[in-house]
Amino acid sequence: MSGSTITPWVVGNWKMNPMQSDSQQLIQSLKQYLQAGPIDVAQCRIAVAPTAIALLSVQQQLQDAAVEVLTVAQDLSRVAGTGAYTGEVSAELLKDSAIHYVLIGHSERRELFGDDVSQITAKVTHALNAGLQIIYCVGESLEQREQGLAEQVVLQQICDLSSVVKAEQWQNIKIAYEPIWAIGTGKTASPEDAQAMHEKIRAGLKQLTGYGQDIAILYGGSVKADNAEALAACPDINGALVGGASLQAESFYKIAQAFAQTKH
Ligand code: PGA
Repeated sequence: MSGSTITPWVVGNWKMNPMQSDSQQLIQSLKQYLQAGPIDVAQCRIAVAPTAIALLSVQQQLQDAAVEVLTVAQDLSRVAGTGAYTGEVSAELLKDSAIHYVLIGHSERRELFGDDVSQITAKVTHALNAGLQIIYCVGESLEQREQGLAEQVVLQQICDLSSVVKAEQWQNIKIAYEPIWAIGTGKTASPEDAQAMHEKIRAGLKQLTGYGQDIAILYGGSVKADNAEALAACPDINGALVGGASLQAESFYKIAQAFAQTKH
């Protein structure tokens, strides 16, 4: 039991997966788990982040789930509104389709698709101005950790965020700490290391905003059913951003269950 009053969030980041038929099975199976063992939304909020093309159909398929499962976009355009921007999906278009949540700054976007600080802050600005809630991802590389720079890198990413967030907008933000060396590698940060960084992030947030105590800080990076409980037991870990293990209903459900049981 952590004693935290923050409702944990467990978010499945499906990345560029799965094909439609597998997605339908995954949703069906997740709904069966939730039907057989509902997880109270006050104990843990469950969300999935499918590809942009699947957002609306997944949202539709989840509508009759025994427990509300939220649908999250994996990214959005750095351009706001509508217009001649081929291939882009803006904050306003997400909102217009009743997609109220979005990931921003995932390390795969930063490393592989050139999302730099100016693009990320533009995305944050547009998302918040459109009334979306964001899950803002931070995390250091292995090299940075080995050089003793982990804390500095992560806190700088929090400062980048704070440069564009207005006082009243902090309540629409969650943080996901995802050490890059732990993503998809099977290497999870130890609960102690993860907690230590979450505590630093929490301290940083408290300096920036009166909401600091209430902002959920999720952990991501090889979260699995068998390590979720130990992570959930840490006082400043308020949920998980789950990649690989979210593509199987059983493991994803068990991770949500671990957070729901530990945080009350
Ligand atoms: P992983 O991915 O759980 O497969 O490590 C986490 C993420 O990138 O969000």
